[in-house]
Amino acid sequence: MTYSIALVPGDGIGPEVIKPATEVLDAVGDASGHVFNYVELEAGGCAIDSTGEPLPKETLEAAKQCDALLLGAVGGPQWETLPGHLRPERALLGLRAGLGVFANLRPAKLPPQLRSACPLKDDVLISSDSEGKPGFDLLIVRELTGGLYFGERGRSADGKAAFDTERYAWDEIERVLRAGYEAAMGRRKKLCIVDKANVLESSRLWREVAAVASKEYPDVETSFLYVDNAAMQLIRAPGQFDVIATSNLFGDILSDEASALAGSIGMLPSASIGSPRDSLAKDFRPMGMYEPIHGSAPDIAGKNIANPLGAILSAAMMLRYSFGLETEARAIEDAVSAALDAGLRTLDIAGKGRATARETIAGTREMGEAVITLLENKI
Ligand code: IPM
Ligand code: MG
Repeated sequence: MTYSIALVPGDGIGPEVIKPATEVLDAVGDASGHVFNYVELEAGGCAIDSTGEPLPKETLEAAKQCDALLLGAVGGPQWETLPGHLRPERALLGLRAGLGVFANLRPAKLPPQLRSACPLKDDVLISSDSEGKPGFDLLIVRELTGGLYFGERGRSADGKAAFDTERYAWDEIERVLRAGYEAAMGRRKKLCIVDKANVLESSRLWREVAAVASKEYPDVETSFLYVDNAAMQLIRAPGQFDVIATSNLFGDILSDEASALAGSIGMLPSASIGSPRDSLAKDFRPMGMYEPIHGSAPDIAGKNIANPLGAILSAAMMLRYSFGLETEARAIEDAVSAALDAGLRTLDIAGKGRATARETIAGTREMGEAVITLLENKI
């Protein structure tokens, strides 16, 4: 098959991590016979510099024509003083809303090879769900196109008061909960809905929707946690979680917390999925946008030290969710794991930032090349 991929490298380390990700995809293409065509598009700070706006209309329109979108990162200090609607981050929000990708899947698991990069002690990491071994493997399903990020906001006439609104409609909650349940069905069949239902009316609506949606998934155990408690439970016993479903803002916060437990934010991929474009078509695929969860890290840009694994693993998620290429996705994940087994470490995941005896420090490019070499015979 031939697939068209919108590429938005973005700013800072974005282009540096997207390059190895596309090279890995090309290697997968060579081995499997699939063809990946890239349509490179501008969004974020670089688009502000060249067009005056973070998300030029042409970028969104062109992205909609592609089968999926792979994004590096956007933002940087030079654009931080611009007004809110002109900041590079608007490009992300505009792409998410414009492509309708309402369910953001953020897996966080601690690779055994990176045990020392996790700040938690062994006895905290061992829970009844991690089979006696220190570790955790959870998936945050974050609502991505509603809530506080997109609700009405404004200022009073004198500018001395401001408001943002958390608004959720039944359907918006239902579709993201369904994404959470579907994910749980393919995993350990536990869904924890995180909210603030002791205070917020919108959270109480989430619980009402959950009461109905959960009936469709009798095999999944549904539980509820208030977000403050969830933040605590994540560092007290992360192994208790399988899938967490939550609102846009809570998911943003909890996924950063989870990433710190997983060794490095540089390792974590994400997938943002929308509705199938045409559910009647035989080979329909949901529209998907894929990005590592790290930012543009301008302080390390251009030095060949950024970790490309989050971007490479995002490409794997794209193969799985948008193209249905499970074998190929798994091959990339196995090759990444093999690179870690071989002791290769970018600086962020090296023991205390220095290579210990069994580790070799790898640059961005070298890590990408190692993954490609290790892909051999996996497809
Ligand atoms: C993320 C980021 C974005 C968000 C920012 C850059 C707008 O933190 O993807 O988690 O808050 O969604
Ligand atoms: Mg965030």
